[in-house]
Amino acid sequence: MLSKVNSLGLLGLDAFVVSVEIDVGLGLPRFDIVGLPDTAVKEAKERVRTAMKNSGKRFPEGRVTVNLAPADIKKEGAFLDLAMAIGIIKASSDILSEVSISDYIFLGELSLDGSLRAVTGITPLLISAKKLGFNNFIIPEGNKREGEFISGINVYPCKSLNHAIGHLTGTLPIEAVKTRSYVAGSSAKGDSNDLRYVKGQATAKRALEVAVSGGHNILLVGAPGSGKTMLARCIPSIMPDMSFDEALETTKIHSVSGALNDEQGIVSVRPFYTPHHTASTVALIGGGTQAKPGVISLAHNGVLYLDEMPEYPRSTLECLRQPLEDRIVTVSRARMTVQYPASFMMVASMNPCPCGNYGSKTAECRCTSSQIAKYKSKISGPLLDRIDLQIEVDGVLYDDLVSVSNEESSEEVKKRVNRTRMVQRERFLEDGIRTNSEMREKHLEKYCALSPESERIMRISFEKLKLSARGRSRVLKVARTIADMELSPDIKPNHILEAVGYRSYALNN
Ligand SMILES: Nc1ncnc2c1ncn2[C@@H]1O[C@H](COP(=O)(O)OP(=O)(O)O)[C@@H](O)[C@H]1O
Ligand SMILES: [Mg+2]
Ligand SMILES: [Zn+2]
Repeated sequence: MLSKVNSLGLLGLDAFVVSVEIDVGLGLPRFDIVGLPDTAVKEAKERVRTAMKNSGKRFPEGRVTVNLAPADIKKEGAFLDLAMAIGIIKASSDILSEVSISDYIFLGELSLDGSLRAVTGITPLLISAKKLGFNNFIIPEGNKREGEFISGINVYPCKSLNHAIGHLTGTLPIEAVKTRSYVAGSSAKGDSNDLRYVKGQATAKRALEVAVSGGHNILLVGAPGSGKTMLARCIPSIMPDMSFDEALETTKIHSVSGALNDEQGIVSVRPFYTPHHTASTVALIGGGTQAKPGVISLAHNGVLYLDEMPEYPRSTLECLRQPLEDRIVTVSRARMTVQYPASFMMVASMNPCPCGNYGSKTAECRCTSSQIAKYKSKISGPLLDRIDLQIEVDGVLYDDLVSVSNEESSEEVKKRVNRTRMVQRERFLEDGIRTNSEMREKHLEKYCALSPESERIMRISFEKLKLSARGRSRVLKVARTIADMELSPDIKPNHILEAVGYRSYALNN
């Protein structure tokens, strides 16, 4: 007997239909699976055979052949198990003979005892299969949460092989998951990483607000103990709420990499990642045998924070250049390449010199000029050029530190950030981007026209400060954000001046 069951495979974040064809015939006992890599076949055979036995289902005695089509794409992951077991039962017994299974997509890994294990990648699988026109999905119960945010389809969370059969035959119908409405989360309230605990530092705080408002990259340069790490750690508390679209985009990536929180089913708070400087390039950028997304993709729609940037190997830093420009990263493996979104805000901090005191008003720098030059050269010009705001952080003044004045809380700042993001969202409705930092040349022309007076200031800055063409674009984008923070339709001279001021570090060096 022959049977056919639908399942899915995943290429990057896109699903393709895998047709699981099963033939059960007479002959000596044999079990063959074609269309999977060798090691995976062996394991799948063991799981399917044993799970069926332990579910009280007879494994056919004759010859069983499973073909996973299309044959030319390698299928990965164990989520084809359930489809195979259902197909074998359909082809070899009359348990499912009265049941039509062609309306369903089956996803799930079988345990040896017949229960269904949660798998990675359910969110992108459901989203793209829905686009392909499929409506009914049987998935592991452990992945139930992921089904709750995708409306318009029926997702049946299932505990085991027998549970799935019970549902299909009608003896144990499973209730489809109820869709939940999305609510943006916020990073823990009352957290110690709140701007209210950062005394003074008005300039640095202002720069942080500008950066977060427009999604711009920012570099904090200052002596050890000046509060760079403290400031950077406050960023999550002022990040704008994540929209549902953004949340789904980020969730897809987390789902594929297995980083999704089971309780949540969706990433509702902007990610904030601080990879250690010993992290491998693959961990950061993505790759490996399964071409999984790296930290920069997990940080999609959020922040990548590189503390003490010169500690990172230069080769690692250079790998960031392309994703910083394209907001997408291409990960290659044996025979194919996949792409993952990687649109993140980069936050970096560093000392001004090896001893940390260069430029300090209170302590003496003991480094030679060649030591300083070598230290700075760890960050290449082209990488630095991609950092829109570069500010020097001076240590907090003693009077500020001990003052009892009330510092503005992150919650207040976040309200303004949300408003500024709203301005950008409305502006870019037709453009397929969300923030000023994502503007391309055509957007600059459209949205950053300068008055003669602003143009004059820009020209003077460009010539005096020897800006590059990219530098000019970056200044324009930041100026656009500063104007948006004031709800000003025009970019005014003072907006340009402030934006130019944020490129001090690159310019002085
Ligand atoms: N503006 C400030 N207000 C309050 N405490 C501060 C401030 N700046 C620094 N500190 C204190 O100094 C510590 C060290 O700051 P940190 O951010 O680690 O410095 P850096 O990263 O620049 O070396 C902080 O944990 C905090 O306790
Ligand atoms: Mg630090
Ligand atoms: Zn020094």
